[in-house]
Parts: sequence; C-alpha cells; structure tokens
Amino acid sequence: MEFHNKGNFTLHECVSNISLLHNFPAHLLSDLTGNELQIYPDLDITTAGPTLDALAPSSPLYRNQSCDYFDTRGIAFESIKQLLSPLLRKDETSYKRGYPSAGALYSVEVFCCSLSSNNTWPCPEKILHLLPNSRKLEIVQNSYDNSQMIEAILPKGNKIGNPSIAIVYAIYMPKTLFKYRYRGYRLALMEAGSMYMLVDLQCKHVNLKSRQWSGYTDNMLCRAMGLNPTLFYPSSVQLIGG
Ligand SMILES: Cc1cc2nc3c(=O)[nH]c(=O)nc-3n(C[C@H](O)[C@H](O)[C@H](O)COP(=O)(O)O)c2cc1C
Repeated sequence: MEFHNKGNFTLHECVSNISLLHNFPAHLLSDLTGNELQIYPDLDITTAGPTLDALAPSSPLYRNQSCDYFDTRGIAFESIKQLLSPLLRKDETSYKRGYPSAGALYSVEVFCCSLSSNNTWPCPEKILHLLPNSRKLEIVQNSYDNSQMIEAILPKGNKIGNPSIAIVYAIYMPKTLFKYRYRGYRLALMEAGSMYMLVDLQCKHVNLKSRQWSGYTDNMLCRAMGLNPTLFYPSSVQLIGG
C-alpha cells in the first residue's frame, strides 16, 4: 500500500494553491517524453536493421485515437452491454474470460458508472458492478447520485467535455496478493491494461469514443463508489461517450 500510494495523484481544491508548474528546459522534455528510445543513437537507423509496415487501417486491431472531447449525447444500454462483452466468461464449460489473467485469478473488478442523464440506464442507481462469470450486472446499492463520482473523475476546469459513462478497473487487493504476493500487484496492473484495450476496440466497433483517464485521487473515487480504499485500488478509468 505504501508503494501504491506513492503513485497517487491529488486533484483537489485543498492543494490548488500549492501546485507549481515545472521549469524544465525544452531539451530535457524532448529527451524524456514522446517518441522512441534508440539504444544506439550514434548508429544510422536508415541503414541498420529491417523496416516494418504499420497496421493497416482496415485491421480489426487498428484502434482509434483517444477522444479529446466528449459531447453531451447519451449511450443506449444495449451498446454498454456490448462494450462489456469481451470481459465476460467465454462459454458455459469454462470460467475463462476474454482476456488473460496471471494464474486465472481475475483480480480486477469492473464498475460501470453512468455520468449522463441522456443514457438509457436500467435502474435509478448509477453504478453497476460486473459479475463476469454470471454474466450479470450487480447494482451498487444507494448509488443514486452520481455527482460525487463526476467530481472525483472530472475535476473543475477539465477540458474533456461530457463523457457518458466511466468504466473503473479496480484491483481487488486480497485476491491480488493471496497467490503471488508482491508480484501479484504487477500482474494485476497488466491485467487491467488488457481489459481496457479490449473495451477500447469494442468502442470503435459500436461507434463510440474512449479515453483512458488517470487524473483522479483514489480515495475520492473509492468513496464515490462506496468501496473500501484499503481493499480496492482503482488502477484506471475509461471515459466513454460520443
Ligand atoms: C493508463 C493511461 C492513463 C491515461 N490517463 C490520462 C489522463 O489522465 N488524462 C488524459 O488526458 N489522457 C490520459 N491518457 C491518454 C493518453 O494521453 C493517450 O493515450 C496518449 O496521449 C496517446 O494518444 P492516443 O491514445 O490518442 O493514441 C491515459 C492513457 C493511459 C494508457
């Protein structure tokens, strides 16, 4: 937990007066951000090594860019069900799902939250928890008001617009640590990555836009979802909309 907390991000009014802009020189920024890392920067890459072709845009694996701005449209619940389908148990005879999981632990829990009143949604509660084995959605009790959720994910002054739903990938720590101890934490993070990538591709398939989002404070998000923040670590949030 101590290690995890070092990666936490505090976005709250109480720290607005103590946040500073960095003063790094431009050459340092260009070296340490973006673009590729050459192990041998002094070798001429035009002659050394084979050349590759990029994925064809017609490939089912060709993803859309992350959405920069979501408009106010809502999503039909049928589309939301389609988005979640790659995360479910694949067939009746097996407990295996549409993504790999180290030791088949499946230690990442999925919460689907309605952020827009324009969505078609099956119940007054705004947060649903995925039961991938049962292929059901469990209603998070008393989650009638999504304002805490919106405040936790989309802090004031953001320029991302109005995402319709947020999918939260939360690592459930008791399961994560039980079999593989510390290494389980690394494995769970990777599992979350393979889950959101499938949902990202499914968004394209159903004509929706998506963006991964890490600009939140874990405790605020857990509180908004009624989860114990010592047991559930929200690894990332996927914003989805039109
Ligand atoms: C784990 C993860 C967290 C991210 N968090 C944020 C975020 O908090 N805010 C944001 O604007 N973009 C976020 N992004 C989106 C990246 O900025 C984006 O993927 C990157 O700029 C590459 O652009 P592309 O996705 O359009 O190819 C995140 C992406 C990932 C994979």
